Amino acid sequence: MTAVEKKQRYADVAKEIAAVIDGEDNLIARMATVSNILHNAFEHYFWTGFYLVDPNKPDELVIGPYQGSLGCLRIAFGKGVCGTAAATRQTQIVDDVHAFAGHIACDARAQSEIVTPVITAAGDLIAVLDVDSDQKAQFDETDREGLERIIKACFS
Ligand code: SME
Repeated sequence: MTAVEKKQRYADVAKEIAAVIDGEDNLIARMATVSNILHNAFEHYFWTGFYLVDPNKPDELVIGPYQGSLGCLRIAFGKGVCGTAAATRQTQIVDDVHAFAGHIACDARAQSEIVTPVITAAGDLIAVLDVDSDQKAQFDETDREGLERIIKACFS
């Protein structure tokens, strides 16, 4: 897929997600829709899902809606790629997860990943969106832009 095709696919997916979640204010329903549509739209997506900030343990992420093989249930802030995205509130792109200190291997097939924080309009971090690929170096600035735009449209 060329960069132009990928950009177009993100734009199409954003429209489809917006149409499906229109009028639905339940967070889990919105997250389930986002993970499902994204996961089925891109061949380089191997695992796609949300880790939510646990209201009872605010320095821990707990698994939310996802698509793919079994995910880890909990990730502490600052641990792994997801925990780093949560702690820094910055999208993380990792070309080779085996070279990332502290990477959490929920599925040994994961090779590269992108994790985007989900921040509400009020500025609260509520979750991260984690996308893994079973190939190295699958995520770039087009994925970052596409995912950050979708996350903002759906959760801010
Ligand atoms: N790769 C993640 C862990 C979550 S799973 O891969 C589903 C990480 O290091 O944060």
